[in-house]
Amino acid sequence: MDENLWEKVHAIQGWFNKETASQLYDILMKTDNDISQGEWVEIGSWMGRSTAFFALLLQKKYPGKILHAIDTFQGTPNDAFHEDTIRENHFDLYQEFQKNMNNLQLPIQIHKEKSVDCHWELPISLLYLDGDHDLYYMMEEFRKFDLFLHTGSFLIMDDVPSWIGPTHLAGHISSMNNYHKIWAGANTIVFQKI
Ligand SMILES: C[S@@+](CC[C@H](N)C(=O)[O-])C[C@H]1O[C@@H](n2cnc3c(N)ncnc32)[C@H](O)[C@@H]1O
Repeated sequence: MDENLWEKVHAIQGWFNKETASQLYDILMKTDNDISQGEWVEIGSWMGRSTAFFALLLQKKYPGKILHAIDTFQGTPNDAFHEDTIRENHFDLYQEFQKNMNNLQLPIQIHKEKSVDCHWELPISLLYLDGDHDLYYMMEEFRKFDLFLHTGSFLIMDDVPSWIGPTHLAGHISSMNNYHKIWAGANTIVFQKI
């Protein structure tokens, strides 16, 4: 992976780690599929660590394209660590996220709302799921955005197997005949739509 890119990502607080970044970097940089036709969408940005990774990679692979970041910036309900951090940040991470993205001058369209409430009608080539981890919520979220993924699109899910919701949803997607699992790391899984 590009160490310079990782240095920028690593400077932002978050969970996205170097091992995952390296694998995703290789998968996305080397794919033969044209993933420039649809949008790249991240659900669950926090302070922008994974956002910076996808936006920098997108800039490198397809200069001029923007990344969509969907987040309430209010943290995940019933997550104690999130609640403490949100309180320390005046109950909203939006300013911190914007500051981090502006520092790196990243082209991002921010959708500050719940993913299921986000008005969406564009084709998607890459979808990264790391927002609300409740299974029923995630099923609704997946049903909504799945409609926009085309053949060759990537679906990347964090917290599989560490969280029950994403893990069950990933199991369900594995059993579908229009998704193919192409990589599973320590806590991330990547599917491609076929
Ligand atoms: C685990 S954090 C994301 C971490 C980030 N991807 C990283 O690697 O640093 C989960 C994020 O999802 C957001 N979130 C929770 N529920 C959401 C929802 N229903 N819609 C959109 N974002 C949501 C929270 O505000 C929080 O920023």
